[in-house]
Formats: sequence, C-alpha cells, structure tokens
Amino acid sequence: MARIETVHAREVLDSRGRPTVEVEVHCQATHGAAWGRAIAPSGASTGRHEAVERRDGDRDWFDGDGVTVAVQAVHEVIGPALAGLNVTDQFTIDRLLCELDGTPNKQRLGANAILPVSLACAHAAAQAQRCPLFRHIAQLWQAACQRATPPDTDGQAPPSWGEPVLPVPMINMISGGLHAGQQMEIQDIMIVPWAARSVRECLSWAVRIYRRLRELLRERGLTWALVADEGGFGPNVDTVDEALGLVTEAIERAGLEPGAQVALALDVAASHFYRDGGYVIAELGGGPATADEFLSVLRAWTSHFPIMSLEDVCAEDDWDGWRKASLCFGRTLQLVGDDLFVTNLARLRQAIEAGIANTVLIKPNQVGTLSETLEVMAVARQAGYHCVVSARSGETEDITIAHLAVGTGAGQIKIGSVTRSERLAKYNELLRIADGWGDELPLKGHFAGVG
Ligand code: PGA
Ligand code: ZN
Repeated sequence: MARIETVHAREVLDSRGRPTVEVEVHCQATHGAAWGRAIAPSGASTGRHEAVERRDGDRDWFDGDGVTVAVQAVHEVIGPALAGLNVTDQFTIDRLLCELDGTPNKQRLGANAILPVSLACAHAAAQAQRCPLFRHIAQLWQAACQRATPPDTDGQAPPSWGEPVLPVPMINMISGGLHAGQQMEIQDIMIVPWAARSVRECLSWAVRIYRRLRELLRERGLTWALVADEGGFGPNVDTVDEALGLVTEAIERAGLEPGAQVALALDVAASHFYRDGGYVIAELGGGPATADEFLSVLRAWTSHFPIMSLEDVCAEDDWDGWRKASLCFGRTLQLVGDDLFVTNLARLRQAIEAGIANTVLIKPNQVGTLSETLEVMAVARQAGYHCVVSARSGETEDITIAHLAVGTGAGQIKIGSVTRSERLAKYNELLRIADGWGDELPLKGHFAGVG
C-alpha cells in the first residue's frame, strides 16, 4: 500500500521551447516514501480528434502558449481528489481523472494536466514496489488484456504478447512536412534496423547510416548542417523519391543491406497536405489529387524502395481512401494509423470493423491516461493489430514511453533520430534497460503485414 500524499505540478519547457506540464506525485508507502515524476509531450502535426491540450492564451506569457491553467487544474482539482488513494491502483486513479474532467476529450482540465499525473503515479507505484517501471507496466498490461478479453472466450488466455521485450526502433533520418518547414510533403523517412540483434546494434547501425546520409547530402549540395524537430535532416530535396533514394544509398554506404537488414518506414502524415478535397504533392503536379492517384504514387515508392511500414497514408477523416489503402497494402505492409486513430478506442473500433489499417501508433497524450492507452493497445491486440509506441515532435527528458514499449511487449517504438537529447533520453533508457535486464529481455520486433 502506498498512499498519495501530494501532487505537485510546474510549468517546464519542451524541445521546441514551448511550456508543458511536469508533475510530481509523492506517497507514503509501507517501506517508506516513494515518488514519481512525468512530463507531458506535445505534437505539432496533431490529429483533429486528439484529447485537448490546455494553454493559457495570454499573449504576455510565452506568446499565449503558457500552461499555468493546466498547472492550476492539477493543484486545485486533481491533487485534492487523489490524496489518500493507493498509487498502485492505476485503473482507479485514471477513472477518477476522467470523471473529474467529465468531457470526452479532456477539454476541461486538459490532457496536458491529466497525463503527467497519470504517468507520475505509475512511476511512484513502481518505486513503491521497488521494481523498474516496465515491470509495473507489464502487470497493468496483463490486467488490461484480461479486461479486453470478451467474457465468451471461456477462460482462454488473454491475447497478450506475453513477456516484456525490447522494441525495434523506427529511427528518423529525413523529416518534411510540419516538422521541417514543409521542405518535402511527407513527414518522416525512417529506418527500421530489423536484422539487428540488440538495441545497441540498432543504434550503432542508425548512427552509421545517419553519418553516411550527412556525407551524401553534403556531396549533393543539399542542406545537411541543420536538423528538424525530431533530429532528422530536413534537406531541400525536390521530391520524396529523391529523399528515399538518399536514405537507401546511405544504408548501402554504411555497409548494410537495404531491405534484408534495414528497411524503411514512412510517416506520410497525409492529413497535412490534404487540401481542397485532395492530396497536394509535387509528384502529382501540386494540384489536389484523388486518393486513387495518391495511392499509385505510394505504390511506386513501395515497389522501388525497401519500405515495410506506411503511417497515415490518407487524411484522418478520409475513411474511403483508407479503405482503398488497406486493400492495396494491408496484407503486405504495415499500415499504421496515427492521426486516423489518435489512440482513441472508438476510432480504433470503427477501423477494426471496416478492416482498415493493421497497426496503431500509440501516443499516450492523444488520449490522456495510462489506463486508456493500455486499453487501446489491448483492444488492438485482441483484433490482431500491432502497436508502435511513439514520442511526439515536442518532447522532453521524460522516458516513460521506453518503459511502456518494453512493458507491453509492443515490439516497436518510434522516438525520432539519433540527435537531440530529448530523443536520446529514450534511447539511452532502452540501453539502460537492456544493460540491466537484457538477459531476460530479447530484442523482438512484432511487425504487421510482413515477416
Ligand atoms: P507530432 O508528430 O508529434 O507532431 O504529431 C509525430 C507523428 O506524426 O508521428
Ligand atoms: Zn504520425
């Protein structure tokens, strides 16, 4: 038993210098004091259906981006309500957080107030139980899987991935869209070092490829000295095709085999170049194109380059386009929904019913609590969908998602590139986990549609 004594919030800054909420939860446990801390991340290419982030709007304070209203909500509403609760009882805590807010999208208190409380409780609970966070999350994950199992399955084992594993990272190499001043329409070109045998080897390969890519950009007279929001390059390429060619060549120059050892993954983030009812992209002459026309471009990319995963191939509310994309790619590639699902149970259920996509991008701040995040993952798993645990473009030193990916055995994590410390904080935490528990935790990718 570890009772919550105080919940304290403060305004801190994220990787873009924008304010965000940090929360500390302090408890009195049987064996002494325990505490936990977490910080809310923040997106730039946010989905329209995400839980709401509350900001002050006061022009004199961080140009209106301040989060003092969210900090106040933690002190005045959340803290007093949580005092005395057992911090290990995550589901009760999160249910109370949702009730205190009382809206479907967390707009009253703000997901940026609620999420760091929820995650800080998990950190404190792990400390109270004297176990690493991923072990505590693994227990919660088993419970979430059990809850997601329909009663008519007659005592069958829950559809969990079983034991925790170290995830294979999707590592950003080139950024475009809203993360890099719109140089290239699509948002991320990532590498997936799926033949590597350890997290260390994944990162060793990624750094080598990143350096070869920088050399290539310099040789071709493209922008190489600056990095985008997630630490990847933002070169002034003319087309996505050119960028895909550069990353593939960098893999070869690193002495690795594109496809067999290192595959490519794209976050198309199509919502952000969907205008006037069509997809506006250089490859299609820059005018609004239909989903069919855009899918033919995607087909060309996937046949020329070793792409294993496509995220947000259609706009967030273009269900018809998504249906076509799923027919086209759903069996042979990983089709990930981010803006499409926004880690939201209702949207996931709608997609499962319609056979849309096969993988869910998991961002805890899109939904607002750890329990709801685990519920979405469990329902996805139940339906045979895979999960990629993901950071946001606005991040901090918070490392919770590394433990979330390990504890749920998700098999994949998307953090960003191999520069910028808010990214490396998570990679370094995975390295710590691998160093401490690597004998029990294999590196294991769970990919949809492939291998
Ligand atoms: P965001 O980008 O955090 O800006 O939404 C990440 C993503 O789209 O996957
Ligand atoms: Zn995305």
